[in-house]
Amino acid sequence: MEEGKMDENEWGYHGEGNKSLVVAHAQRCVVLRFLKFPPNRKKTSEEIFQHLQNIVDFGKNVMKEFLGENYVHYGEVVQLPLEFVKQLCLKIQSERPESRCDKDLDTLSGYAMCLPNLTRLQTYRFAEHRPILCVEIKPKCGFIPFSSDVTHEMKHKVCRYCMHQHLKVATGKWKQISKYCPLDLYSGNKQRMHFALKSLLQEAQNNLKIFKNGELIYGCKDARSPVADWSELAHHLKPFFFPSNGLASGPHCTRAVIRELVHVITRVLLSGSDKGRAGTLSPGLGPQGPRVCEASPFSRSLRCQGADVGPAGHRRPLPSVQPG
Ligand SMILES: Nc1ncnc2c1ncn2[C@@H]1O[C@H](COP(=O)(O)OP(=O)(O)O)[C@@H](O)[C@H]1O
Ligand SMILES: [Mg+2]
Ligand SMILES: [Zn+2]
Repeated sequence: MEEGKMDENEWGYHGEGNKSLVVAHAQRCVVLRFLKFPPNRKKTSEEIFQHLQNIVDFGKNVMKEFLGENYVHYGEVVQLPLEFVKQLCLKIQSERPESRCDKDLDTLSGYAMCLPNLTRLQTYRFAEHRPILCVEIKPKCGFIPFSSDVTHEMKHKVCRYCMHQHLKVATGKWKQISKYCPLDLYSGNKQRMHFALKSLLQEAQNNLKIFKNGELIYGCKDARSPVADWSELAHHLKPFFFPSNGLASGPHCTRAVIRELVHVITRVLLSGSDKGRAGTLSPGLGPQGPRVCEASPFSRSLRCQGADVGPAGHRRPLPSVQPG
């Protein structure tokens, strides 16, 4: 960052989670990721620097080792002029979802992380003239604990994500239970993965976002303002999947585009990586413990049909049905 040249007007609100808030540069392909805190939580600048540096170090020394360097962008900690951060904070405040405003952006330390803007990452030079699509998935924990220290019987059968779904709907955070279960997504079985991805597309909550040229075209900015219309998404994606079929539209076309999207994401997740570690979802080499979550509608419907999806894995091939 060139300290003297920071201008808040060149940056725009991009998104936030529970711990950080991200702003994107209007032209350059970079973002700044700031920490946020409850209003009364006082942290020293040194503590904030250390917190951010730990995140960078974790990416560099742990995640990169597991996922390969093409897949980890750990960025760097930057120090910004305090006046810039204050003005930026004022500028973006009105764009923040109300439900996230219980925490304030840290304007006191001047520290943030600088990272490439992954929603505008140009991965293939030859495709420079084409729009950039980015699919963000927050898959959550994809295993069920088998340790005897976990004493509640239900926790050996139902995954944490599915249990939380019930809690979140009961407390009013989300309106509807999602059919998505992380164990289906991580299963390495195409049918289960298709089901998981289609379920994510039906009920994106904060687990799926799709961007085109850095703009959110599908997903939730806020629990109260979901951007989730399949026909609109299909309209954005049709040129990618059916470039010459200019006339087709309607529900049939929408379904075909969504199916293609689900298949493409599955293919990407099942493909190898530069280190041969990431992306290799092998059903035979998973961790110990149940490989199927009893709350997943996919597994439930297969059990009703008598297919073997028990803890020992898939001894019999899964029949070709898609529940739901
Ligand atoms: N490097 C990045 N490029 C583009 N978007 C990003 C980047 N990092 C984060 N984001 C966006 O900002 C959102 C919030 O950032 P995240 O790191 O998930 O915050 P939190 O730690 O609070 O969950 C993400 O869901 C994602 O959409
Ligand atoms: Mg997040
Ligand atoms: Zn589950």
